[in-house]
Amino acid sequence: MKKIVLCITGASGTVYGLKLLNVLSKNYYIYLVVSEGGFKVMEKELSIEKEQFLNNLPENCSFYSQNEIDAPISSGTRIVETEGVIVAPCSTGTLGAVANGISSNLIHRVCDVALKERKKLFLLVREMPLSLIHIKNMEKVAQAGGTIAVASPGFYTRPKTVEDMINFVVGKVLDSFGIEHSLYKRWRNEDF
Ligand SMILES: Cc1cc2nc3c(=O)[nH]c(=O)nc-3n(C[C@H](O)[C@H](O)[C@H](O)COP(=O)(O)O)c2cc1C
Repeated sequence: MKKIVLCITGASGTVYGLKLLNVLSKNYYIYLVVSEGGFKVMEKELSIEKEQFLNNLPENCSFYSQNEIDAPISSGTRIVETEGVIVAPCSTGTLGAVANGISSNLIHRVCDVALKERKKLFLLVREMPLSLIHIKNMEKVAQAGGTIAVASPGFYTRPKTVEDMINFVVGKVLDSFGIEHSLYKRWRNEDF
């Protein structure tokens, strides 16, 4: 089974991370890290408590807390065996840490390792508006080889529900990894 690292931080949009966990767990072994901020926002936005979340993880998933800097995925050896690292949603704090090589928790560290090992790193940032600091940090990560996306659903697919909009954003993350899905209808001129 292919492996992938999924990190959920304390930006708004925990639902993106949970949807990715759900979709990816069908075909991938998942190394999952949720920051303390990620758990706080999860509870605020979805009324899911940390214990409840941890008790309902898929079987093909290893969970690590942000403080487990001695986790196997802290090392390049383990990261190179994966398809890469997704941070969704990604806070501007985590973006800043990654952009500046400040590996003060496991999420920052796995992103740092992905960049140094030239593995795919996808940061699904959520904030608005963006300060010049955010933009410069995005530039730095992009220059280091990471993929940056701001969670912004398109409307050309004519979404009817919030779930349609979530699926659009999650589908774009999967597209970036070349992972097949049918979460949203791709743009074809004749359809519109
Ligand atoms: C309800 C709630 C919503 C938040 N939304 C965002 C957000 O959209 N973007 C962001 O960068 N930070 C947001 N934050 C702030 C982050 O959670 C905070 O900066 C945290 O320290 C980020 O740390 P982490 O990246 O380790 O999770 C939010 C916080 C709360 C409580």
